[in-house]
Amino acid sequence: MARQAAGVIEDHEHVRVISHNDADGLTSASIICQALLRKGIRFHTTIVPRLDSSVVDMVISSAREKDLVVFCDMGSGQSDILSGIKNSIVILDHHVPVGNSPAKVVVNPHLAGIDGAMHISASGTTYLVAKALDPANVDLAGLAIAGAVGDKQLMDTVNGTILKEAIEAGVVSVRKGLRMGDGNIADVLEYTPEPYLDITGDRQKIDEFLDILGLQGNVSELSGEQMKKLASAIALKLAKKSTSEAIEASIGDVYCLNKEPVKNVYDMVAIFNTCGRMEKAGVALSIGMRDKTHLEEARKMAIGYQRSIVGNIKVAIDMLRIGQNIGYLITKDMESTGMVASTMVRYINPDMPFVAVNQVDDIVKVSARGTRALVTKGLDLAFALREASKAVGGEGGGHNVASGASIPPGTEEQFINKVDEIVGQQLGKR
Ligand code: C5P
Repeated sequence: MARQAAGVIEDHEHVRVISHNDADGLTSASIICQALLRKGIRFHTTIVPRLDSSVVDMVISSAREKDLVVFCDMGSGQSDILSGIKNSIVILDHHVPVGNSPAKVVVNPHLAGIDGAMHISASGTTYLVAKALDPANVDLAGLAIAGAVGDKQLMDTVNGTILKEAIEAGVVSVRKGLRMGDGNIADVLEYTPEPYLDITGDRQKIDEFLDILGLQGNVSELSGEQMKKLASAIALKLAKKSTSEAIEASIGDVYCLNKEPVKNVYDMVAIFNTCGRMEKAGVALSIGMRDKTHLEEARKMAIGYQRSIVGNIKVAIDMLRIGQNIGYLITKDMESTGMVASTMVRYINPDMPFVAVNQVDDIVKVSARGTRALVTKGLDLAFALREASKAVGGEGGGHNVASGASIPPGTEEQFINKVDEIVGQQLGKR
């Protein structure tokens, strides 16, 4: 599939690239843009929050007749609306395919029997195509790893192979420690939403915690012993309430992106997610293309954004409602509900999936997140949100463990009841 996509790309002089505004989408776009640049193929890239008919209209009006249209991190679930595009289409995605695709080539792990929610991201998929274009593109593997980390994937099977290749090529190196960004330990613990601890956001408690451990300074400057001490203390905090997935996500291998301007993978992911949400996708792409011009601005923005997420998680904890089979909240104008939902299910209420329902202007956006343990028991949030949103006149989809939807205002309670019922059936309860 990757070779076939590379062949189609090579046959074109100009490519219209459309990708998603999260870390996986932005790393995918960075990979394909670098690969195209190196091949001397011109491109025009647009980053969008979702693929809907307005995006299709934009592609139709902006792509020239002979242009190739490449969708990254989207396109597999929207076969119906893509048929309006007359250009050749290549899809590099990891979402579950739905319907008959009008694309010339679809590169998607699900078509090879691999679960794209867990084992390879859109950036990994795009990286395989970049390597099929030129094996020298192995230096882009760090971006593929960042995309997978951004989507909270497992580093086994396909991701594991990409990681091994990246380590062998010196593109990525690995050390053990806390899986979070660099900086002053107290600052990082204060503004970092993951791991979400009982001291997160509370400077006084953080200072007391670090005093007891006798630790200070920068995360990256801690000795092996000091890092072990900090990681053990955090593991103990997590063991009280969170899932084993939360402990795994917080402590273990930390990836250093040797070729990228941002070395710490968690800082890179935070910067990309922030830029995407703040409509500064151009800044993210410039960093993904290894230009440092806007790096400091992006770092500051990411810290501010993470602080606001921590604030929203605190609000969500106060507003948490428990249904029969789901935890949820219904609110308005909340930012970063995807991150809020994933924190709620990992760290606060891990026995049930979490659904954040959030009205912004005249649309209600939904973000739902589960755990791998719940998926093993039968949870499929993509199905639950697609069906429940359809039932109230909206639309939705995504992955079994992470999905989203848009629904009309006024249908929130009906929608939640439907999701609760479907999840109950999936988990073999009510
Ligand atoms: O918006 P959020 O990050 O919560 O979306 C999670 C997943 O759900 C993404 O993979 C996204 O593509 C998918 N989604 C969808 N339909 C929507 C909203 C989100 O398929 N209306």
